[in-house]
Amino acid sequence: MFSKHRADFPTLSGENPPIYLDNACMTLRPNSVIEAIRSYYEESPGCGGRSVHRYATTVSRKMANCRKKLSEMFNANETNEIIFTKNATHSLNQVAKGLSWEKGDIVLTTDREHNSNLVPWLQLEEEKGIDHRVVKSHDDNTFDLEAFEKACGDAGNKLKMVSLSHVGNLDGIATPVKKAAKIAKDHGAMVCIDGAQSTPHMKVDVKDLGIDFMAFSIHKMMGPSGMGGLWGRMDLLENMRSIQSGGSTVDTSHYDSMVWSKPPAKFEGGLGNYAGILGTNAAVDYISKINLDDVHEHEVRLNKIMTSVLKDVDGLQIIGPEDASQRGGICSMVLENIDAHDIAILLDEAAGVMVRSGMHCVHSWFNAKGIERGSLRASAYLYNTEEEVKLFAETLVEAVEALG
Ligand SMILES: Cc1ncc(COP(=O)(O)O)c(C=O)c1O
Repeated sequence: MFSKHRADFPTLSGENPPIYLDNACMTLRPNSVIEAIRSYYEESPGCGGRSVHRYATTVSRKMANCRKKLSEMFNANETNEIIFTKNATHSLNQVAKGLSWEKGDIVLTTDREHNSNLVPWLQLEEEKGIDHRVVKSHDDNTFDLEAFEKACGDAGNKLKMVSLSHVGNLDGIATPVKKAAKIAKDHGAMVCIDGAQSTPHMKVDVKDLGIDFMAFSIHKMMGPSGMGGLWGRMDLLENMRSIQSGGSTVDTSHYDSMVWSKPPAKFEGGLGNYAGILGTNAAVDYISKINLDDVHEHEVRLNKIMTSVLKDVDGLQIIGPEDASQRGGICSMVLENIDAHDIAILLDEAAGVMVRSGMHCVHSWFNAKGIERGSLRASAYLYNTEEEVKLFAETLVEAVEALG
């Protein structure tokens, strides 16, 4: 379905292209993104939002344009609700550390969050005495709406925040965010969504979801590394502290006071990653021309192929439901007797297949289950083909049979 897109990605265009299945970590970038980054350094290497010469004006214009396109993509109320950050981790930290907390305030997350949506809350527990509670998933890792509703009820009027991954990077399972957000709101909580694994793969409408904040990773959306974003409701952003203060965060300053800028400037202290923002602009153009429903369908089709080859292999256990349509493009598996890193190296060296191995920054889940070796994770994207995932799965079966 997307085979014509492969030619847009230089790493896939050579003689023997690798089979890149580490897209949940970072996607590949099309030529247009690389070209936009090059154009910044060669044609307009200026500073956005400050100087008024030609270089800077070009950057400021493209930056504003990119912000507008992102706000339209997520159906935000206002362009200025989009904040450029360096990654989703930065965005989640901004939310956790920018809001005000009282001892005993309750924050709910789940048992399969990336460290980026766990550690900031653990840090607040250590430093501010908040009460961070974890909602357990069903045995197959799917979201337990009943347990979640009960946890909201148990928290009572101390419930302040619900922070959930939209799609898990461990297993590709989606959270029913709209339903969860409604429950959380009925209990008076704010809702923050970690959209790192959803925004590259599905249409996300922040208004329809009924949420307050969303963190996202541009480098998982075919954009430059070191780029991410935060969307937040303007009334909340206006009252949120910036975790970074300095140039651009204030309208003016005196020796003894300052006047904070309005969002987004308040949160974008210091000179920005302008090459990254121009690259983001090109990535948003690229992704906007693609039907994300088709991307999801394509990924599930590839995942079904991987799953059918791998599901009955001795010593290999797929994480999550057997039904691949509940795991998007992610096929993550625990290998009983073999080190996942060894297999990942072997797959790369023997078959040119790149996958992720380890704990994928979800240590808490592996630790709770007593799984010390982590997992091997293949994650597909639009440019992957049926032949590629078949070759990956068959090579993995051979390796497991030989080494297990
Ligand atoms: C679900 C999820 N949340 C957060 C992150 C962190 O993203 P970033 O690297 O942009 O900080 C990742 C990265 O893999 C992720 O998969």
